[in-house]
Amino acid sequence: MAAVTDLPFRTVAEELGVGFTITEFLSAHALAVGDPKTTGKMTASLDGRRFGVQIFGREEAAMAEAAKMAVSIGASLVDINMGCPAKRVVAGECGSALMREPQIAQQLVRVVVNAVPASIPVTVKHRAGWNQDNRNAPEFACAMVEAGAQMITVHGRTRTQGFSGKSDPEIIKLVRDAVPSHIPVIGNGDVVDVDGYLRMREMTGCDAVMIGRGALGNPWLFSRLREVCAGRPDPGAPTLEERLSVFRRHVDLIERLKSGPRTLHEVRKACAWYARGLYGCNALRLRVWETPDLAAARALVEDYFAQLIERKDRLGLSPDGERGTKDSDFADEAAA
Ligand SMILES: Cc1cc2nc3c(=O)[nH]c(=O)nc-3n(C[C@H](O)[C@H](O)[C@H](O)COP(=O)(O)O)c2cc1C
Repeated sequence: MAAVTDLPFRTVAEELGVGFTITEFLSAHALAVGDPKTTGKMTASLDGRRFGVQIFGREEAAMAEAAKMAVSIGASLVDINMGCPAKRVVAGECGSALMREPQIAQQLVRVVVNAVPASIPVTVKHRAGWNQDNRNAPEFACAMVEAGAQMITVHGRTRTQGFSGKSDPEIIKLVRDAVPSHIPVIGNGDVVDVDGYLRMREMTGCDAVMIGRGALGNPWLFSRLREVCAGRPDPGAPTLEERLSVFRRHVDLIERLKSGPRTLHEVRKACAWYARGLYGCNALRLRVWETPDLAAARALVEDYFAQLIERKDRLGLSPDGERGTKDSDFADEAAA
């Protein structure tokens, strides 16, 4: 996810058990011309963990060059974005606009496949279609596979839906049914919890699930899913202490891996994510947004969690056996 799945975010998700992470989408053109801002976002996962790089574009030479660059930093998969609905991307006839031009999309897949070693799978992520009258995901996915794509990810919304309405599991099922069975189909859209994951698998028959927004400030979703998929009980939502500890790890990673004026912005985002849904989180977010520096932002969050932990003990919330913190845990106080 653009402006989200940077290296610190991916590292936290990996440490909590996600199967595989992919960079945010990166303009092939910008990579090919060596734009430092974009090349700086093409980062390998830490500690040798496998990762993918996602690129977008429609210039064949740039797509080939960008794919080679991804391989050169150790990517074990190159994903082509054909699902982005953003105006500036669609105006350049990239992202989801390619769903209206399957032949050009196929040619881009062929070019990228030819640019990378045979051991590196080239994969495609797309949407249900352009709009309600053109939900061509099953045919489109088959065309991409015919051109050499080795995995398909489908977000069950159309381009015109943007992020409104609901992701449709039925279209993901149609893609799964249409595409040859040896090609993995990844279901995507609106999975924010364990039940949603299980529903996606069951309703669509997809081989794996891609989770986006549901992971913001909630990387425990991955550790919970890892347990459930291994046939063990769901450990439940994190405690406040666990939230604080992963927040600290995330911010440490931001401080270690990022530099420049955006660092404070990234830390502010992390503060908001990890407090989301907890009592007083909106007030915290506003205060953090006004802090002048990183240390002050960290201190505010430390203080916030210390107070919550103290209050929680005092009010006897989260009785024995209930591990996690939920939005409703502090509802009494919030209402007061
Ligand atoms: C802020 C934001 C940035 C995104 N950036 C990307 C991106 O770079 N590449 C991509 O394939 N999808 C991107 N998406 C779409 C998500 O990957 C995903 O398809 C969509 O949000 C639906 O899944 P979800 O409900 O699990 O979030 C982005 C979504 C959001 C909200």
